[in-house]
Amino acid sequence: MPFDVISITNGAALFNQHCVECHGYQGMGNGIKSRTLSTKLPDLLIEPHTTEHTPGDFYNWISYGMVNTDMPGYAEKISEEDRWDLVNYVHALSRGYQARILTPEIIPNKAYVKPPFFSYTENNSNSGSLQDFRGHKAVLLVIFSWPQSQDRIEQLKQAYDRLSEQNIAVLAVPANELAATEVTQIAAELPFPAVTQGASEIAASYALSRRTLTHPDIIGKGKNPDHMEFLIDRNGYMRARWIPSIDQTGWSDIDKLYQQINLLNRENMKVPYPEDFVR
Ligand code: HEC
Repeated sequence: MPFDVISITNGAALFNQHCVECHGYQGMGNGIKSRTLSTKLPDLLIEPHTTEHTPGDFYNWISYGMVNTDMPGYAEKISEEDRWDLVNYVHALSRGYQARILTPEIIPNKAYVKPPFFSYTENNSNSGSLQDFRGHKAVLLVIFSWPQSQDRIEQLKQAYDRLSEQNIAVLAVPANELAATEVTQIAAELPFPAVTQGASEIAASYALSRRTLTHPDIIGKGKNPDHMEFLIDRNGYMRARWIPSIDQTGWSDIDKLYQQINLLNRENMKVPYPEDFVR
């Protein structure tokens, strides 16, 4: 099952339905049942669980449970495909947590945060996928709400000529209901495409990368920011992120954004593309 937003979003729904009572909304092990169990729940956000165990281990535990613990098996209740989606979601949770080190400034020549893949249809009916940009273009992924992001979208529109000269693709993804229903109208005014089909899954999966070192946002269900922008480099790695409500100024100074894109363009890093599957 590729590590993509459809699988992750389906995994999230299943996790909320079956797993939250023990593992907690964000996988930290603090669900309402957690204190009544005979074994201690792991914090699924932190790394050891996703680096020391294989996706096959996870699949096995989710299917058949863990012996001598309260972790139940779901082979009878949840289909095979859905169980793989849960494996992806658990990885998406912990990769999202890993992304908290991202800031509006890239760290030159350091790429390791692997974003979820996605396919999409644009307002002009073109379709594509994140992987299509690999090897030739960086991507500025703009996750926006309406009307909250109105000024920013206008600013990007004005800046677009200069942005496209820097060989970057801009992709706008509606994140709230109003943005999604008005997307065709909003996009008609824009020099860059907006996503119609696939938008809610992209927005939900990238919202897992909303945490910052100053705002870990791990209490309860957490809160998705209205607006987030991600810079994904030519090799397919997430390199920088601006969340206006948390980072404040950041890329509202559009020159700061140009600088980052410039740095990415001048890099000549040889790293393998992120794998399509979790390992
Ligand atoms: C009744 C409580 C309970 C429910 C419901 C539950 N789990 Fe667990 N889970 C546990 C406990 C307890 C452990 C830790 C077992 C141990 O190592 O002692 C665990 C461990 C795990 C692990 C292994 C983590 C690691 O790296 O050690 C994964 C993955 C996991 N659960 C996923 C799920 C998923 C996905 C669901 C829902 C489909 C789920 N669990 C539902 C109690 C639960």
